[in-house]
Amino acid sequence: METIIIAAVARNNVIGKNNKLPWHYKEDFQHFKRLTLNHVVVMGRKTFESIGKPLPNRVNLVVSRNKELQIPGCVVVGSLQETKEYAEAKVNAEKLFIIGGSSLFNEGLAVADAMELTLVHKDVEGDVYFPKWNVEEWEEKSREDRGEVSFVRFERMKTKTNAIVILYTDDNRILMQDRRNIKKWGEEWGFWGGGVEHGETKEVAAIREIKEELDYDLKEFQYIGQVIGVAKRFKLPHEQWHIVTEVFVTKISDDISQFIVNEGLAAQFFTIDEIKNIILTPDIDLKILKLFEEFVDIN
Ligand SMILES: NC(=O)c1ccc[n+]([C@@H]2O[C@H](COP(=O)([O-])OP(=O)(O)OC[C@H]3O[C@@H](n4cnc5c(N)ncnc54)[C@H](OP(=O)(O)O)[C@@H]3O)[C@@H](O)[C@H]2O)c1
Repeated sequence: METIIIAAVARNNVIGKNNKLPWHYKEDFQHFKRLTLNHVVVMGRKTFESIGKPLPNRVNLVVSRNKELQIPGCVVVGSLQETKEYAEAKVNAEKLFIIGGSSLFNEGLAVADAMELTLVHKDVEGDVYFPKWNVEEWEEKSREDRGEVSFVRFERMKTKTNAIVILYTDDNRILMQDRRNIKKWGEEWGFWGGGVEHGETKEVAAIREIKEELDYDLKEFQYIGQVIGVAKRFKLPHEQWHIVTEVFVTKISDDISQFIVNEGLAAQFFTIDEIKNIILTPDIDLKILKLFEEFVDIN
């Protein structure tokens, strides 16, 4: 089930005044109706009172802490979580629209997959606001400008956490992975490591990844920081991912480095300057390299 926030928001984030909408845009009502019709809508008790009746041809859920509350034509639930359970189990809903107000939008921001926002291009006086949200976590997918308003769809960027280990020698040469034949990534060179799996710490993931990729037991290693960047997936280039990379370093002796090379692993040593001239995932790997440069500078 897709959970979608749908809201009309002024430039100064106002969404309501005196328990009413502070504007009347016919095209926004039509847009709202077109998107929500035949789906499930969930609203706070005050928003229901503001609308005054159940929205036709939709399953109407109203959230309230008042256990006695009964509203004809609506199902009253105690929390947003309960709403999701109800929509999934009882209605088998395909889409659940969170239609307001402010506190439901606030809770919804943590769980929604998408937001359908009607941006009202002016400041408006009011007493209820759309909560602050982190633009970096959301990707604009479509936009339709309609004079005083724009209809914009945002989707939550998918997030992945990676643990990578920089293996370097006494003279700061870094062992890089040759990915030029690994079409899954579609990049050229990369650092060693991979995804932190559910329930794993970043340290455990780093040890496991290096064992899997290099058959090397990582014993002494140091955490040097985190890098956040955006990457496109090679097979789905339209899909952007928020990648959080936890970066570790470990110094490797010449013996071990020779072993790695002798084993025929797709790997090669580069100096920091050389790495700047090979092809990497630009946003993320260059930030990782910068972190390493700072680290060797400090030491
Ligand atoms: N521009 C837009 O897109 C938009 C959309 C919707 C609404 N609005 C505007 O927003 C205003 C109303 O919104 P609002 O933020 O004041 O109120 P609201 O969120 O609609 O309703 C608040 C009430 O919902 C219940 N509630 C909220 N969170 C809950 C939770 N986690 N668990 C249990 N119950 C919960 C509580 O009801 P009880 O007090 O009964 O316990 C709470 O008092 C109006 O002005 C309306 O026109 C604008």
